[in-house]
Amino acid sequence: MGSTGKVVSVHGSTITGETLAAEHFTIGSYISVILGESKILGVVTGLELGSGDNVLFIAQLFGKFTGGRFVRGTEELPYPGALIELPTEAELDLIFNTHRRFDFALGEISLLRGKKNYIDPDKFFSRHIAVVGATGSGKSCAVASILQKIHRLPGARIILLDLHDEYGEAFGDMAERINIGEFEIPYWTMNFDELVETFVDPDDPASRSEMVVLSEIVLNSKRVKNLPYKDTITVDSPVYFDLSDIRVKMQALDTERLPNGREGPFYGSFTRFLFKFDSKINDRRFDFLFKPKRFKTTDAFSEFLESLFGLKSGKSIVVLNLNIVPHEVINALVSLLARLVFDFNVWNPYRANLPILLVLEEAHNYLNTFSTSQTARRTIERVVKEGRKYGVSCMIVSQRPIDVAESILSQCGNFITMRLSNPDDQAYIAKLVPESMGDLLDVIPSLRQGEGLLLGDATILPLRTRIDPPDPFPRSKDVEFYTKWSILPPAVDLEAVVERWRRINY
Ligand SMILES: Nc1ncnc2c1ncn2[C@@H]1O[C@H](COP(=O)(O)OP(=O)(O)OP(=O)(O)O)[C@@H](O)[C@H]1O
Ligand SMILES: [Mg+2]
Repeated sequence: MGSTGKVVSVHGSTITGETLAAEHFTIGSYISVILGESKILGVVTGLELGSGDNVLFIAQLFGKFTGGRFVRGTEELPYPGALIELPTEAELDLIFNTHRRFDFALGEISLLRGKKNYIDPDKFFSRHIAVVGATGSGKSCAVASILQKIHRLPGARIILLDLHDEYGEAFGDMAERINIGEFEIPYWTMNFDELVETFVDPDDPASRSEMVVLSEIVLNSKRVKNLPYKDTITVDSPVYFDLSDIRVKMQALDTERLPNGREGPFYGSFTRFLFKFDSKINDRRFDFLFKPKRFKTTDAFSEFLESLFGLKSGKSIVVLNLNIVPHEVINALVSLLARLVFDFNVWNPYRANLPILLVLEEAHNYLNTFSTSQTARRTIERVVKEGRKYGVSCMIVSQRPIDVAESILSQCGNFITMRLSNPDDQAYIAKLVPESMGDLLDVIPSLRQGEGLLLGDATILPLRTRIDPPDPFPRSKDVEFYTKWSILPPAVDLEAVVERWRRINY
């Protein structure tokens, strides 16, 4: 094909070009800048009328064709006057087939019907993934679609924290579903930070003393109950301790009188703590945490992990449903579950053969920096920083990325950005991805449902992609209000509503 334009100016990896063949140029179309033996590929990100019949366009340069291959990035930059042509079909195939050998595509490239967006799944799953987009933009469907592509792999290991009981239906019997509110998560597997989160109110004036005393009690109880490990146990060790030790000791300090009849140093300080402690322990909704029946000895820890991670079931996906978990403990519980996954691989000498993907849905709820509960954020921060070394990767899913701590999102090597209409969210994402992607993000508000912009090192180019629909869908379907209102609904089973209501958190 002959040249269709030429370079007018060059600014870093962005060029301005001019053409007389404007009909070939739209936002998102590809151009090649000829540079001696090689060609540099660019994507058009802006267009404007020139001074005569010509049209000016801005293009972002991404890589080059050289020696029959396409490579990302380029150290050579074009010069003003360099000729521009449209890449041939064969050249486009060269680009889009770069990762074809893995045969793993998330969907079709939006602007090139029939062409799949093949990615490098090793890079995709190992560098943490962010899936962001406004409510209803298609995140949960994208997650289900991606996981459905890998759950048949015999060694796949995925732990998904499902906050709204959406995913059970998406994987059928390919997944192990665990209803956390009905399962047992023994309190003694919590580390100290999680215990504090659960029992200490940061607004309580005595909170600092409570933390000091609590750590002494827990450490002591852990030592007494686990004499063989007495010297190595720390307050964070996942070994059994007696919860009632906390109550007994705190109560004693709260009512302590010294031999001279004076009040003890903590007299009356822990009343508020004890009130909160009692109300949690006696609340049946927390029985899954505080009244273990199955896992109530240190020796039960491995059996607990085996059931929690579905290791016996042979299923590759474990959906941990947090739907009926009281919201007061969600933060501590997310921290606990994520930490167990992480620590499991830290201590697993065969971790290189057992990489685990941890999917965190609705992450803005527990990974923000402003709520009083920060335990989950601290834990996930550690997981995203160190996870790569231990074969633990996170997929962070959020409709409100600006509310997800930057320290976490900035560690993500791959982004699936669905439609985002809020300018604050858009600006936040723009800040997190390399500057050269900036202009490409302009499409984000206009993406369609189920369409995402893929950015990161797993994809050869940042590409608008129509994510393959999941089959089956998660239970997150849009409710068709008007259609539903147009027919007479079946009678409401009020008893069933009330019964479920009572069981879940509110
Ligand atoms: N790839 C897709 N193919 C077909 N339909 C889709 C696709 N993605 C999303 N949809 C449709 O969009 C609806 C909403 O999608 P989804 O539940 O994934 O949104 P979401 O981004 O997770 O929203 P929320 O933030 O509220 O959880 C789905 O009910 C489905 O009908
Ligand atoms: Mg969702």
